[in-house]
Amino acid sequence: MEGSTTSDIRALLKRARVVPVLTVEDDDDAVALASALFAGGLWMLEVTLRTKGALGAVERIARALPQAVVGVGTLTKVEEFAAAANAGARFAVSPGCTAALAAAGRKAAFPYLPGAITPSEVMAARDAGYTTLKFFPCKAAGGTGALAMLAPVFSDVVFCPTGGLTADDFRDYLAAPNVVAAGGTWMMPKDALARKDWPAVTRAAKAATA
Ligand code: 3PG
Repeated sequence: MEGSTTSDIRALLKRARVVPVLTVEDDDDAVALASALFAGGLWMLEVTLRTKGALGAVERIARALPQAVVGVGTLTKVEEFAAAANAGARFAVSPGCTAALAAAGRKAAFPYLPGAITPSEVMAARDAGYTTLKFFPCKAAGGTGALAMLAPVFSDVVFCPTGGLTADDFRDYLAAPNVVAAGGTWMMPKDALARKDWPAVTRAAKAATA
């Protein structure tokens, strides 16, 4: 029962392979940060709804970088689908899934990536029509070992792990057969962000796409 939105998210992730997860603390920096990532080859950008300015940042990034695909992350309430669509989001990501979010995701104007960690959560998401799932918080939930154990049980499900991935280990995740893409913040080094050192972000992005 894979709907068009769920197959679209898989295709998008398959093409992107690496998804930076941006939490925009300083509204003025959103476009500069997104541009630095885009210059490094990262074009699918997830902006988390964890800060007040997140939706405004999605709008500005979408306008400044029309070639990028900007979406929202940390979507935890049904009403956020409409807000995300109004801001010009091209996809949405949730850390988990509820029946209400799954239903809203099927009706959304853009592809939707809900999250699941446990076998029961994976089964519930799959019953709701989703076989492409975020796996968060990846490291705390068992990392590559947990994903490898889920693979033979759910051969039709692929994951986008996020949460704790690093420049040293994200390739281990991408090598797993049930991992379609990997997400996180490792390509936005904290010291580079503090210094607004955008060329350093571009270098880290390039390393993530090499
Ligand atoms: C997420 O929302 O996916 C995580 O916050 C990713 O962040 P991390 O790579 O710093 O764990």
